[in-house]
This record gives sequence, C-alpha cells and structure tokens, in this order.
Amino acid sequence: MKNREILLVKRPDGEPTDEHLSIEEAAIPALSDGEAIVRLLYVSVDPYMRGRMNEGKSYVEPFQLNQPMEGGAVAEVIESQSDKLQVGDIVTGSLPWREYTAIAAESVRKIDPALGPVTTSLHILGMTGLTAYFGLMDIGRPQEGETVVVSGAAGAVGSTVVQIATIAGARVVGIAGSEEKVQLVKQLGADEVINYQTEDVSSALAEACPNGVDIYFDNVGGDISDAVYPLLNKFARIVQCGAISSYNKKDDQGPRIQHYLIKSSALIKGFTVGDYRERYPEGLQHLSKWLQEGKLTYEETITEGFENIPQAFFGLFTGENIGKQLVKVNEPSRFGS
Ligand SMILES: NC(=O)c1ccc[n+]([C@@H]2O[C@H](COP(=O)([O-])OP(=O)(O)OC[C@H]3O[C@@H](n4cnc5c(N)ncnc54)[C@H](OP(=O)(O)O)[C@@H]3O)[C@@H](O)[C@H]2O)c1
Repeated sequence: MKNREILLVKRPDGEPTDEHLSIEEAAIPALSDGEAIVRLLYVSVDPYMRGRMNEGKSYVEPFQLNQPMEGGAVAEVIESQSDKLQVGDIVTGSLPWREYTAIAAESVRKIDPALGPVTTSLHILGMTGLTAYFGLMDIGRPQEGETVVVSGAAGAVGSTVVQIATIAGARVVGIAGSEEKVQLVKQLGADEVINYQTEDVSSALAEACPNGVDIYFDNVGGDISDAVYPLLNKFARIVQCGAISSYNKKDDQGPRIQHYLIKSSALIKGFTVGDYRERYPEGLQHLSKWLQEGKLTYEETITEGFENIPQAFFGLFTGENIGKQLVKVNEPSRFGS
C-alpha cells in the first residue's frame, strides 16, 4: 500500500496556487483499538478552506503549515479495530487530504449507500444544503410573492437556495457567471437570472426586480452586492452567507452600506452553518423530503484523481464548478457508485 497526502506548505497572500500545496508520500497508517483505517472516496472542496489557509482568529482553526489540508469527505473502511465500524462501511466526516487515514470511530458518521448516492452527504444532505436551508428559512424567512436575489446562484449553496425560495413561493432572481450557469439556474426555477460577466448588474437587477428586493442571499459580496443594496425594500433581510469575491484579497473596499440599511430598516446577518448544529435533523428532514418529492435537485462537478484536488479547489475562485465541486479519489470496492 502506498499513501499520499496534500500539505499546506505556504500561506497564500492572494489566490491559492500550486506553490502553497504539496503532494507528498505519507506514512502507512497504524491501527489502534477503537480506530479504523479508511480509504478516501470523495473529497469536498469548499471556499471556506481559503480562510483556513490564513493565520489568525476565525470561527474555525487555521490549517497548520506542513500539515495536511482537511475537509468534508466520504471514505470506505478497509480495516477496523472498532466494533462500531465494519470493513466496507461508507463513512463521512472531516478527513485529511490523505488517501489512507486511521480515524477514531466516533469522528465519522456511517452513511447507508442504499438510501442514495453517497456524495449527497457532502452537499444537498450535508453542509451546503443545511447552509442554504437555515440561511434562507431562519434569517431570510421568505414569504410568498417576495423577491429573493441569490448571488453565486449556480454554486452548491446558491443553487439550493434558488430551489428552496421557489418552494416557498418567492420570486427568485439569480446572479451567476456564465451562460451555461444562467440556463441551469433558470431550470432550477429562478424567474430571472443575470450573467454578471456580460451584463451591467445594476441595470439588469433594476429590471429584474421591479418591486425591489425583500431578501438578498449573498454568497459573493463585492461589486455584485453593492449593486443589490440600493434596491432593498422596507424590512429587507440580507443573509450574509459568503463573500467569495474577497477571499483572495487583502484589502477590499466598497461603498458604505449603513445608509441603505437605515433607509430600508433592513436586517443584515452573518452566520455559519455550525450555528444551527442542534437543528441539523430538522434541516435534513426537510431537504430529504423535498429531494424525494422531486422538488429539490442538485448538480455536481466531479474531478477525478487525488492529485487533482488542488486544481478543483483553485477552480472555485474562477467559477469552474457548476453545483457542488467534488473530487473522486477512488471507486468504492463494495458498492457500485
Ligand atoms: N456561512 C456558511 O456556513 C457557509 C457554508 C458554506 C458556504 N458558504 C459560503 O457560501 C458561498 C458559496 O459556497 P459554495 O460552497 O456554494 O461554493 P460554490 O458557489 O459552489 O463555488 C464558488 C462559486 O463562486 C463564484 N465566484 C468565484 N469567485 C467569484 C467572484 N469574484 N465574484 C462572484 N462570484 C464568484 C463562482 O461562480 P460564478 O461562475 O457564478 O462566478 C464559483 O463557482 C461561499 O462564499 C462560501 O464561503 C458559507
């Protein structure tokens, strides 16, 4: 057995590139009581990982230099000294970017491949689905007929928000970065979709939102958000989910937004999905019901190969993905997909 891992070897100043990550040979994991050895199947790459490459205080610890990157993953148990995990079990949890790892049985959750594709635990029935659900339903609180604007609308979170807002009976306006993405977001139920790469966002938004904006679900920040603020209606809600346009910038200045908030009595609230940890079962119940009823669907962009994890991650910042960006590292040995 050969083993490889991907280490953070340098902290980026701007965009993450190959010079910041290094693929190295890793030791073969040794097994202790209560542990299992897992083989990576799928890795989720996520924008928040860029923040963890920086030093400093955040809601989650920074990645350590010369240690593996880590994040949401699906893996298969190949050896076990725990009565909680059997060889062949498929598990999900936060795992290092390493092909084979020894884990404590309690650090992962078993998933049942018979219930659906195992990758869904990394998006629609996992972190990004829950982010969309709680951000929109708890902070946005959409009412029938309200106008919801979603930035990053073709991404993992955004594409789910578009669909949940549609289920809630809202009028949905998406913003995305290519014609292909615009078509997808329309198919997901959006009433209007703006291509921010080819259109003037301010005038396109004014046209697409004749009754103003009641909820802005913001995944990107920056210039796109600056174009939304002037359209906020009285008591609008801004769900500050992400700001990917600024993750690679040291200094990102924009218009002051306070007067827009005052004029519209608007609420702006940042959150992380972990704030809702206690309520995950409620979120998962809704998401899986809508999925079963065919009201919710998902898109995946799957890159193949452990060595291509860095490129898949970098591509998030240049819009390479549609829906959830995953990397397939291995085929499960017992189950077909
Ligand atoms: N608060 C939370 O707990 C939480 C949880 C998960 C994710 N998030 C945040 O939610 C946002 C979306 O995450 P995701 O996992 O769903 O990622 P994603 O949207 O699937 O992928 C990132 C997308 O962002 C867009 N993008 C990249 N650079 C941009 C820029 N400069 N300006 C505008 N758009 C840009 C690209 O699409 P285009 O081609 O359309 O530009 C890209 O495909 C991120 O900001 C992330 O940090 C927050």
